[in-house]
Amino acid sequence: MANRPFGHDTDSGLWVAAGAAAVSEVLADPACRVRPRSEPVPSGILGTPAGDVFGELVRMTDGAPQVRLKQVLLAALNTISEKQVVALAAEQARKAADWTDLQFGVPARVVATVLGLGGDIPAEAARLIGEFVRCVPASATAEDQAAAATAAARLLDLLGPCLRAGSSGLIGELVRLAARNGLPTTAPLPANVIGLLSQTYDATAGLVGNTLLALARHGKPDDLAGFVDEVVRHDAPIQNTRRYVVTATTVAGHEVPAGSTILLLLAAANRDPMANPDPHAFLPGRADPQVFTFGRGTHRCPGHVLAAAITIGVAAAVTGAPSHEGYRPSPNARIPVLKGQFG
Ligand code: HEM
Repeated sequence: MANRPFGHDTDSGLWVAAGAAAVSEVLADPACRVRPRSEPVPSGILGTPAGDVFGELVRMTDGAPQVRLKQVLLAALNTISEKQVVALAAEQARKAADWTDLQFGVPARVVATVLGLGGDIPAEAARLIGEFVRCVPASATAEDQAAAATAAARLLDLLGPCLRAGSSGLIGELVRLAARNGLPTTAPLPANVIGLLSQTYDATAGLVGNTLLALARHGKPDDLAGFVDEVVRHDAPIQNTRRYVVTATTVAGHEVPAGSTILLLLAAANRDPMANPDPHAFLPGRADPQVFTFGRGTHRCPGHVLAAAITIGVAAAVTGAPSHEGYRPSPNARIPVLKGQFG
């Protein structure tokens, strides 16, 4: 990365941004979009409920509708009490069945509860979201896409009736704020509620796992929040993202033609010595850390405070110190497979 912050990789055909400056430049460039112009929705799920959801997600769209909807999501997420999320995550962690349930099930159930979903819905939504996220990576197979379509249909049935102005929790805030901000339609809300759950899923499982491993290595600190922040930088649960070049552009002095795909190595940018001195050292409480794990610019993650609060709650409740058996196969997430006495 230090030798080649931006360049073309002939084997994969991708442009690769690894340096902090190059990653920042691409994420701020309006020529670089989140989907290829020719395929706004992956062809394998087009016309299915998973495709309908995908096509409405703020994460997967650019332009004015994305910006307006993002404002509503951010305003709604800002109403959440971090303290309550920490307490809820700790309570859920104490009831978790095993390490896998702790990593995946607990964050999904916490977010479902914060959304205001009650009864058995958080548990069912947590299960279904695991199926839905299978359609998201560029490497999704036909089988993944079919499973995601079935899950999306069930999630829309489950969540649709909850989206009312009088609803409690984050869903109620979303409906109220959409009206107050003059959103022309509330049609994208169900898809984006599914989006909040799906964006939580792998990423927070990775952060929980990487934090528990770091705690086993370094011991429990006084400042858990500062510790989690450094895990986010040092052992990024989301390692990369992509951008699709819609009009020819220039990045780090290289001419990048329209139609190119850029792989952005967020985890490498976190370790760029130009951004963070002594970047490979694990130093909780760093002064002014430059962190790329949650992205930058228009599509920056609106869930970072929520993800950190869930992880702090889980880490505070867990007494065991797991080790791990490698990582789950994933094109972009770093999720350790935890092992050892659960508790
Ligand atoms: C450790 C956990 C998490 C990590 C590392 C993470 C990382 C990211 C990254 C890198 C992006 C931007 C992708 C891009 O620009 O290509 C993103 C977007 C997003 N994340 Fe997160 N995320 C996490 C947790 C969450 C949670 C808990 C939520 C919500 C409850 C959430 C909601 C979203 C949404 C809605 C977007 C799309 C924003 C947009 O496109 O404008 N994320 N996340």
